[in-house]
Amino acid sequence: MAFTLFDNSGLDSPIGVLASDRPNPLEFHHQLAGYRATALAEDNQLADDLGCEKVWLKLELRRFGLPSFKFLGASYASYLVLLRRLDIEKLSPSLDDLAQRLSKQRQFRLVAATDGNHGRAVAHFAGLVGLPSKIYVPTPTAPARVEAIRAEGAEVVVALADYDAAVRQCAEEAGDHDVIVSDTSWQGYEDTPRDVIEGYQTIFAEIDDQIIRRSVQSPTSLVVPAGVGGLAAAGAKWISRQTAPRPSLVAVEPTTAACVTVAAIAGRSVSLSDAQQSSMVGLNCGTASPVAMERLRPVLSATMTISDDEAGQEVRRLAGIGHEVSESGAAGTAGLRAAFHRAPDAAAAVFGARPIVVVTEGVTDPVSFERIVGRSPSPVQEDE
Ligand SMILES: Cc1ncc(COP(=O)(O)O)c(C=O)c1O
Repeated sequence: MAFTLFDNSGLDSPIGVLASDRPNPLEFHHQLAGYRATALAEDNQLADDLGCEKVWLKLELRRFGLPSFKFLGASYASYLVLLRRLDIEKLSPSLDDLAQRLSKQRQFRLVAATDGNHGRAVAHFAGLVGLPSKIYVPTPTAPARVEAIRAEGAEVVVALADYDAAVRQCAEEAGDHDVIVSDTSWQGYEDTPRDVIEGYQTIFAEIDDQIIRRSVQSPTSLVVPAGVGGLAAAGAKWISRQTAPRPSLVAVEPTTAACVTVAAIAGRSVSLSDAQQSSMVGLNCGTASPVAMERLRPVLSATMTISDDEAGQEVRRLAGIGHEVSESGAAGTAGLRAAFHRAPDAAAAVFGARPIVVVTEGVTDPVSFERIVGRSPSPVQEDE
C-alpha cells in the first residue's frame, strides 16, 4: 500500500473560477426541497490513535434522501445541461418551471453510467423534473444498489464489464434525445463533468461555515476518497482559495483501482488494464477524469492506496462510534490511518495536526455491512 507524495509548490492562484453564467452551487442546492447541511463531527478516537489535535469527519451519509454526496453534483450538472438543451441562457428557473418547460418538448431522457451513487442521483433528479432515465452499471453490482436505482424510476442496464465499460456503453448508445450526465470526462465531453465537480462545492462552502461558526483553527489537510477524481478536484478548488498555509490535499484509492495516482504520476489519464473489483464500489474506476485531473494535479499533496481489509476495519470502527458507512465511505479515514501507520513522519508532515476527512457514503449494501460489522444497519432516519 503506497503513500505517494507529489510536488504542488507551483500552485500560486485560485483554480476553477466559476463562469459568470453559472449559479452559485450552494444557493442552487439551498432552494431545492430537502436541503440541509451535513454534519461536521469530531472523531476523537482516531485523533487519539494518530496523535492529532483533531480529526474532523464531514459526514456525507444523507443528501436529499440519498445515501451519499453525489446528488450535489448530479443535480447541479443535470439542471445546467437541461437549460443548455432548452436554449435557456439567462434565466434560472425553479425545478417546477423547468419541469413545465420540459413537458412541452419532445421528451428528453437522462442517461449515465455509474458504480452506484451517481446514477441513482441522476435518476432521482430526472424524477424531480418529470423525465425518464437510463442508468448503466458495471458487472458485478450488488442487487441492493441496482434495486435502489430502479426504485428511482430508472431503466437499469447491466454492462458486460467494469465501470469504464459502462461509461463507454452509455456514450455509444446515447440517442439524440438522450442527455448524458457523466461525472467523468472524455475528449469533447467536458462541460457536464466540470459542472458535476462544481456542484460538490456545496460541501466545502458548508465546511467553511461550520469552521467559522465554531471559531476553531482551520484544517491542516483534506482527505477524500477518489474514484475518477471529481470530488478531490472540488476539494482542490476549495484549497486553492484558502489563505496560506493552505491545507494539503490527499486522495485515497483502492490499491486495485489507483487511477488518480497513476494519472498524477503520468501527467495524463491512463486506463488501468485490470478490471476493478474492490469492495470500495464507488472508487472502482479504471480511468481518472481528465477535467478532474486538470484541477487536482496542481494542488495534490499525496495519494494513499488501501486494501479492502483496511476499508472494512474502518467500517467496523466507525460503526462502533455511531457512523454507519460503506467501504467507500470509510476509505478516507482508512487511508489516513494507514498512512500514519506506514510512514508516520511523512504522514505527520502531510496531514498536519487537524485533518478533515470526507466520509462519502452511508450504507448502500446492507449485506456487506452485516458481514463486516456483525449486525444489520439501523433503519435510516430521514431527518438525519
Ligand atoms: C461513495 C463514493 N465516494 C467517493 C466517490 C469518488 O468520487 P469521484 O469519482 O468524484 O472521485 C464516489 C464516486 O462515485 C462514491 O460513490
